[in-house]
Amino acid sequence: MTTRIKGMKPSRRQFLGGALAAGGAAAGAGAAKAAGDPAITELQPWMQYLGDPVDAAPYGMPSEYESDVVRRTVSWLTADATSSINFTPLHELDGIITPNGVCFERHHAGAAHIDPAEHRLMINGLVDTPLVFTMEDILRFPRENHVYFLECAANTGMEWRGAQLNGCQFTHGMIHNVMYTGVPLRLILEQAGVQTNGKWIMPEGADASAMTRSVPIEKALDDCLVAFKMNGEMLRPEQGYPARLVVPGWEGNMWVKWIRRIEVGDKPWHHREETSKYTDLMPDGTARRFTWEMDVKSVITNPSPQAPIRHEKGPTVLSGVAWSGRGTVGEVHVTTDGGINWHKARIDGPSLDRSMHRFYYEFDWDGSPLLLQSRAIDSQGFVQPTKDELRKVRGTNSIYHNNGIQTWAVNADGEAENVEIS
Ligand code: MTE
Ligand code: CO
Repeated sequence: MTTRIKGMKPSRRQFLGGALAAGGAAAGAGAAKAAGDPAITELQPWMQYLGDPVDAAPYGMPSEYESDVVRRTVSWLTADATSSINFTPLHELDGIITPNGVCFERHHAGAAHIDPAEHRLMINGLVDTPLVFTMEDILRFPRENHVYFLECAANTGMEWRGAQLNGCQFTHGMIHNVMYTGVPLRLILEQAGVQTNGKWIMPEGADASAMTRSVPIEKALDDCLVAFKMNGEMLRPEQGYPARLVVPGWEGNMWVKWIRRIEVGDKPWHHREETSKYTDLMPDGTARRFTWEMDVKSVITNPSPQAPIRHEKGPTVLSGVAWSGRGTVGEVHVTTDGGINWHKARIDGPSLDRSMHRFYYEFDWDGSPLLLQSRAIDSQGFVQPTKDELRKVRGTNSIYHNNGIQTWAVNADGEAENVEIS
């Protein structure tokens, strides 16, 4: 920033000089190129004609120059596209909020399209009064707003045995972070009256997979929401319109979309999604189950394989995201030399409980190859492990709950690749 002396307007020359002093080599290079740049000397088309009238797009869309900012799938990961997954373009985003249109999707039987007027939420099982709510009824409860990340337990699952997918969108993009508006589940359950032997709930989805999971009653009464809005507008059909369960900090599979029923029971149901799936096969052949909390994790989003360094050596912005299912992220450390030297990254923007955090590390790139890693530490003191440390405890047969440290190798051309060094 150019500092202004009170009452004095800086001249153009002062501006450029100021930018040079503050920005160093990169800003200097930019300023030199400005001489004779047709982008400055020529009248551009968008200055010669009137622009779009208001209402040209009653629902606004991103600029046509941002058409690369999209969810992407990896076709060979699943046998068909209705029980499948796509990934959030983390390398294109900044700040902490995921725009609704690029929130990754994970469907077990496709995205249901539900008429809210025909949607019902039933509470049954071990309750004093079984109840059925319409969406209108749900909207008459007191609401809360919270920003939470949702991470699929399978995020980074392909990377257990070694570096696989080339891009943070594919390795880490089964996560989104939005502001939910919803009703505390506690208020809805209290209306039905949970009986003393009611220890678990089983939320059920209205999609063709009728997704079900067992959730302990303590969690249900603590901070779960029946959410109907994300980032201010109604949930997208892909995210469970008209209502989904929000289970803060816990694995995405439990966040049942298109929620139609909540049964209260005295023990877990041991359904498919908590036995054959979403359990962790340990080295001794036993399976760990009910690993609900998502561990502290981070990834460098820029530079990364889909977002190489495209400028000359000099000032470089490294950025990434970090999160923990156990609280906030206290610190993120980054290394550019594969772990020989670690630097404290700058966390910028809101640091919210069980929400994504944004970090930056600005450095002078000397044009030599880099080995980039980030390591997050959460508010409970948990430290993100290396993949070797994880495998020492968990073996090599796991898929879910991989929060290991990611490495990107950047070459002298600025191109980045997924590698494993620790
Ligand atoms: N709920 C229903 N009803 N059906 C589903 O297929 N998928 C689950 C969960 N809730 C699923 C569901 C899984 S595995 C995840 S990771 C999240 O929803 C994905 O949420 P998203 O599509 O909003 O990203
Ligand atoms: Co999932």
